[in-house]
Amino acid sequence: MINENQIDAALQQLFSGIEFPAAPEGLYDPLRYMIAIGGKRLRPRLCLTVYSIYKDVLDDAVLQCAAGLEVFHSFTLIHDDIMDRSPLRRNMPTVWKKWNADTAILSGDVMCIDSYRRIASAPARVLSRVMSLFTTTAAGVCEGQQMDMDFEKEQQVDMERYMQMIGLKTGVLLACSAKMGAILGGAPQQACEDLYGYGYNLGLAFQITDDYLDAFGDSEVFGKPIGGDIVQNKKSWLTIRAMEKAEGAQKEALMDAIGMPVESVSQREEKIRRVKEIYSALGVDEDAKYEILRFNARALECAGKACTGVRHETLRRFAEKLVGRSR
Ligand code: IPE
Ligand code: IPE
Ligand code: MG
Ligand code: MG
Ligand code: MG
Repeated sequence: MINENQIDAALQQLFSGIEFPAAPEGLYDPLRYMIAIGGKRLRPRLCLTVYSIYKDVLDDAVLQCAAGLEVFHSFTLIHDDIMDRSPLRRNMPTVWKKWNADTAILSGDVMCIDSYRRIASAPARVLSRVMSLFTTTAAGVCEGQQMDMDFEKEQQVDMERYMQMIGLKTGVLLACSAKMGAILGGAPQQACEDLYGYGYNLGLAFQITDDYLDAFGDSEVFGKPIGGDIVQNKKSWLTIRAMEKAEGAQKEALMDAIGMPVESVSQREEKIRRVKEIYSALGVDEDAKYEILRFNARALECAGKACTGVRHETLRRFAEKLVGRSR
């Protein structure tokens, strides 16, 4: 079995050596920038980790697919940052801030195309399964992103629709990463499905953690400004749970806080402070931590159907590292 250190080294090499066309610079420089500023490389790591429980050598086909998953993810972030008006990502200016929105749109487009090119290099015997998985996933991410934007304008979103939204915007790509590793590794059909479930539940836990950190994280470590979701009126896990829990005067206070103006810096700071205060009073920050553990446990149940012993232990360790993350 390939070990974690080998996966680390392979990822390091893969992304330090990744190449995009030289010209036009205005189109490709943002791609180089996004890959160079790093990130956790979670999706390619997940793909390689699942692959490693079936194979003993990381071949070029799986490395290209893993790179494709990260390139696709980074493309979604470039567009997401325009949509969310986010100025910072990975502690660096976002592409639309550093260049402009037009550049972010077109460089994002070509980055998406580049990811398809890499994934389409999968071996012929699995190519149609891989492409069908990836295409369905990519459309799912767009559907989730649309729901995320729609929810900004809605007063009441229930937990069921919220879970559907994060399942699409975040869950399906982690699910796809795990399943792609399984397909490329030659796992039995049912194991591929179970590992999809593993990735999907990890994705749900991951997005709830992201929502939690957006309000309660440390911006230096998280790499994104704190309170962006509150300012944008995003329906985060915290908002949904707070709406469920609050009653009477507390509910009124929550609705008032959500409606606070955000024109100036001081207004934004005041709104973030007020909403967080209500979240804490309701204890939704602690509820989120519990929920993250619950989805993590579900992920491990799915993994348990696919494999046992040292293989399962590998997947357990992967999941464990995500719980309690601060970046
Ligand atoms: C950010 O993803 C978008 C979400 C799905 C929450 P990551 O937290 O994996 O971002 P990077 O790649 O590490 O920067
Ligand atoms: C992003 O969700 C999901 C995708 C990019 C598909 P967020 O909007 O919460 O991600 P961050 O917080 O900007 O990384
Ligand atoms: Mg977003
Ligand atoms: Mg965002
Ligand atoms: Mg977020």
